[in-house]
Amino acid sequence: MKSAMTIAVLGATGMVGSRVTEEAGARGHRVLAMSREPADEDPATPNVTPVAVDANDSHALREALAGTASLGAVDAVVLTLRTMPVDEEFLVGATRTVLDIAARLGVRVLVIGGAGALRSPDDRNLLVADNETYVPAEIKPVATAGIAQLRTCRSHADADHVYLSPPALLEPGVRTGRYRRGTDTLLIGADGRSWISAEDLAVAVVDELEAPGPDPLITVVHHGAHPSP
Ligand SMILES: NC(=O)c1ccc[n+]([C@@H]2O[C@H](COP(=O)([O-])OP(=O)(O)OC[C@H]3O[C@@H](n4cnc5c(N)ncnc54)[C@H](OP(=O)(O)O)[C@@H]3O)[C@@H](O)[C@H]2O)c1
Repeated sequence: MKSAMTIAVLGATGMVGSRVTEEAGARGHRVLAMSREPADEDPATPNVTPVAVDANDSHALREALAGTASLGAVDAVVLTLRTMPVDEEFLVGATRTVLDIAARLGVRVLVIGGAGALRSPDDRNLLVADNETYVPAEIKPVATAGIAQLRTCRSHADADHVYLSPPALLEPGVRTGRYRRGTDTLLIGADGRSWISAEDLAVAVVDELEAPGPDPLITVVHHGAHPSP
């Protein structure tokens, strides 16, 4: 195993955050599992510490990310927040706050963003957010917020960050431990689908934290056929 890190997961009770927490914990990392309503502490996962924090509260976030005496300093932050309905101002504000704090602490930030920020596989000049094959009008505001979040990362001169865009479809599934990785363009799997399970996305997240790559924008897709229902 790579040497154990302390990883803060902001949005740890969510579909993605809970899988990242589980994956990182299973690999022996210490996890600060942050959300407004954290899960109860589980004796079966002693290296996962639930932390109550509201991402709207920059002071509380700073305190939480500064680490604790018992757990030591945070080595990396995974930002995986979502609101329903989408709140672009909140998402951009929380992202900027986390990047500011992380820059001061000298820690890396991995942002789970949206597929909309990627280029279309058949037309590099067309963002996925503007491509109705992947983004119907009703979810366009979500895709637009993801692009604003990526812009926030790109314009932050001091923070060390990587933005991970999921493929078009991301849903709970099984952990295969296999995925294909790309950079700024939506990936399509061998079965013709742009898809990954949240479990395999979490594998990619922890792989990236353990061995950071050079690309500030990355994406992943499932490897092999989509499992039959
Ligand atoms: N194909 C795609 O591009 C695709 C598909 C799905 C998801 N995503 C992206 O993946 C990321 C995570 O999505 P998800 O589906 O895992 O979301 P989710 O299940 O709705 O979870 C959202 C998390 O954010 C936390 N949260 C919300 N507001 C908060 C606040 N003010 N302070 C602290 N925590 C807060 C929630 O916890 P509390 O409510 O307890 O605070 C929860 O843990 C998002 O960026 C989303 O856009 C992309």
